[in-house]
Amino acid sequence: MFNPRDVDLSLLSQRAYNLRWATVPQGVIPLTAADPDFPIAPPIKEALLDYVKGGYLSYGPAEGLLSFRQAVSTDYKAKNQVEYKPEYILPVDSAAYGIYLICSALLKPGDEVIVFDPVDFLFKYSVEQVGAKTLAFKTPQSEDCVDFSNLNTLITSKTKLICLCNPLNPTGKVFTTTELEALAEIVAGYDELTVLSDEIWSDIVFAPNKFHSFSGISRMFDRTITVTGYSKSYGLAGLRIGSILMPNQSLYEKIFAHSLHQSTVHGANVLGQIAAEAALNHAQDWLMGFVSHLHKMRDFSVQRLNAMPGVSCEAPQGCYVLFPDISNTGFTASELQSHLIERAKVAVVPGLPKWFGAGAQGHIRLSFATSYDLLDQAFDRMDKFFKS
Ligand SMILES: Cc1ncc(COP(=O)(O)O)c(C=O)c1O
Repeated sequence: MFNPRDVDLSLLSQRAYNLRWATVPQGVIPLTAADPDFPIAPPIKEALLDYVKGGYLSYGPAEGLLSFRQAVSTDYKAKNQVEYKPEYILPVDSAAYGIYLICSALLKPGDEVIVFDPVDFLFKYSVEQVGAKTLAFKTPQSEDCVDFSNLNTLITSKTKLICLCNPLNPTGKVFTTTELEALAEIVAGYDELTVLSDEIWSDIVFAPNKFHSFSGISRMFDRTITVTGYSKSYGLAGLRIGSILMPNQSLYEKIFAHSLHQSTVHGANVLGQIAAEAALNHAQDWLMGFVSHLHKMRDFSVQRLNAMPGVSCEAPQGCYVLFPDISNTGFTASELQSHLIERAKVAVVPGLPKWFGAGAQGHIRLSFATSYDLLDQAFDRMDKFFKS
């Protein structure tokens, strides 16, 4: 598993898009979009092959396959001790669409949404697509404790949603129960507020850090809509599959109505559900092996980056991305991105507002979900560039 020989660069360069192997010039190592370089777990492959061998790819149920919804419910309960009923779990065609769907169902033009900064662009993007407005809640660019005491100042009568990304892409922060309880305290004071908890990274957490779901915080189950997906933990990004977990019938009905699944205009494809169900039911040992590999790669990467002049990198608590501070290199993030691709042949994501908010300034993001050999090569090239 997770050895250099498991990374098939010839297939990746034909299949891995979204800023990765298929989109960069030959010879460039893309440590860009967070998508693993390893093939999927054997039980997922077998489940897909079995299903396709049956020869039928007919319409699935609009609300999703019951066996998949049950697998999501069971997995969530086992990992978080929180019980979402399978009938209130909606498979959607990606976590990204899940975020957008929640925004389109709950918001109207003019509403306000609190979005952390820095954070992945998907939240702001989705809120703005439905005509609502985001207010940035500035959090540390590192994993320092988040002080929620001034969050109140952003809340008005128009605030309808708080988007929580836990673990937080790009800083890798994993929120502690103390922090989540502080957030819950504030949410409890406003009846109209809902929390969208994006937990797509919740499997990728490095000991001794521990993931805690917001839905499990006292009195927050009914105030939370959880979104998750299977791109990060199981490498299923191309199948576009995710889930929305809802606490009650009224939220489920509202979101289901907005999903357009009933009309077949949208829907979660059946193969995506089959693959993700196999992942949840049969690929947990594989996942443990993946996280253990990532833990080693994280430590190696942090040590290599910190040895580069002007670069300062904390070890992320979760997520397989690094978010080093490059402000002492003398380059802006965009300049560094261009130099690294041209002179070091390594592609990174610059900390620009369009990717992670204004708070990402002075940083770049690198994914380490690849082999030791590729990381070693990429860091050798970067090191040489910095030292020249
Ligand atoms: C926090 C977060 N949410 C959602 C997504 C999107 O996941 P999906 O591939 O399921 O759309 C990503 C992908 O990078 C992410 O980092």
